[in-house]
Amino acid sequence: MNLVVVSNRVARGKPNEPMTGGLAAALLPVVEKSGAIWVGSSGRVRDGNLKEPFAEIEALGAGALAMLDLPAAHYGGYYEGFANSALWPALHSRPDLIRASLDDYLSYREVNAFMARALLRFRKPDSAFWIQDYHFLALGAELRDLGVTQPIGFFLHTPWPTRAVISGVPHHRDLIEAMLAYDLIGFQTEEDCENFLAYAQSDLGLEVHDGVVTSRHGRTRAAVFPIGIDPQKFAQQAAKAMTHPDVSRLRRSLNGEKLAIGVDRLDYSKGLVNRIKAFDRMWGLYPQLARTVSLLQIATPSRGAIEAYGTLQSEVARLVSDVNGAHGEVDWTPIRYLNKGYGQAVLAGLYRTAQVGVVTPLQDGMNLVAKEYVAAQNPADPGVLVLSKFAGAANELDTALLVNPHDIDGMARTIATALSMPLTERRMRWEAMMAKLRGGTIQQWFADFTDALQDSQLDHGPLGPVMADEPTRWPLRSINNGARYHH
Ligand code: F6P
Repeated sequence: MNLVVVSNRVARGKPNEPMTGGLAAALLPVVEKSGAIWVGSSGRVRDGNLKEPFAEIEALGAGALAMLDLPAAHYGGYYEGFANSALWPALHSRPDLIRASLDDYLSYREVNAFMARALLRFRKPDSAFWIQDYHFLALGAELRDLGVTQPIGFFLHTPWPTRAVISGVPHHRDLIEAMLAYDLIGFQTEEDCENFLAYAQSDLGLEVHDGVVTSRHGRTRAAVFPIGIDPQKFAQQAAKAMTHPDVSRLRRSLNGEKLAIGVDRLDYSKGLVNRIKAFDRMWGLYPQLARTVSLLQIATPSRGAIEAYGTLQSEVARLVSDVNGAHGEVDWTPIRYLNKGYGQAVLAGLYRTAQVGVVTPLQDGMNLVAKEYVAAQNPADPGVLVLSKFAGAANELDTALLVNPHDIDGMARTIATALSMPLTERRMRWEAMMAKLRGGTIQQWFADFTDALQDSQLDHGPLGPVMADEPTRWPLRSINNGARYHH
């Protein structure tokens, strides 16, 4: 099988470069190994008819990474518009934040169609396409319109909300009907999958049997594939990162004080406001915890052109400043607040330094920070994970301290409990979580989905193993040092 993986954001494979978002970082090692070609946005736009849309194609492990300049006229309506001002809020159950015009929807469809045309360049008789995430819900339908008959799978990294909420998305019927051109649709949790099937049955009036939807496109299987990490690799990275200058400086600065850590994109789904209020409440309820624990909150700016994100950034900054003003001392800052991104090689060490990991989104597809925090811990003295019950990760990491992110008092008390948890209990909880991480790695996720994708279209004949014996020789253009690239 010649696998073509598609996502909006791609990772360029430089381990020390900050990577915003779980998807790109998670996919990188598995795509590298598989020999697949990974296609995504270059992050730049171009005018004109874009006859040659590939700005850059470079080698990536045994395969290749192809980055496209997207059409300038439609980029805003696609990315800031429909994808992130209609779909993202709806998928995270915030219909009150939906803002999208018909033009935004048309631009979204245009970019999906543009990507489909670009993908034809990589199609082979034994190709299979694996599309990632909410940016490309209609890409499968566009590929079918271009005559692609090969298997096409889709994986949604975010939650899928209830019927009532998804119906708040303008043109939802047209869009979700288009999704049924996929042979296989993967979700993070059972609940997401059930919500999707309920919509297909009740709102589209389609036949749903045993997770299979029958529509004018044929049969679409919906199934659950919780995404994982490589816990062993992350643990090694964390042990090594303890000598990284940033990590060493952090440890020196703590002077025996405990540390709680939060690492998020600055996004309203991440529950940052409630988390900071919970720390405020904790220092209010337990004044003896002042000076004994601080919070390191890394909040990487994201989607700054969208109003809701600008408003959130100001709100969080104001709140952090209020809390520091109220509880701080001349020589103690309760919350260290950073608006930048860090690479995984540093983050792993920051996680290992912190006695408590706070991952308290209001709604989250999986949340790989939760998994990475666990994997980074020192087995002899592990920290405690405080995890929102509304993160997909809570299904697996059920020995974390689970919290309701809307209950500020409850969170405050739970963080205090985490800080005083005895070693035996910490180890017991951590070992149970590690066992879950080892049982559901990113490699397993990749294999499970690609196997299911093969099975979903058996009538297309045998596709062969995913791992190519011989890496495919794509017609590449050299862009930098060129050593492994060819024309
Ligand atoms: O949660 C799904 C996801 O694709 C994440 O991987 C990432 O955090 C985000 O959405 C995409 O963010 P961005 O808009 O910065 O590419």
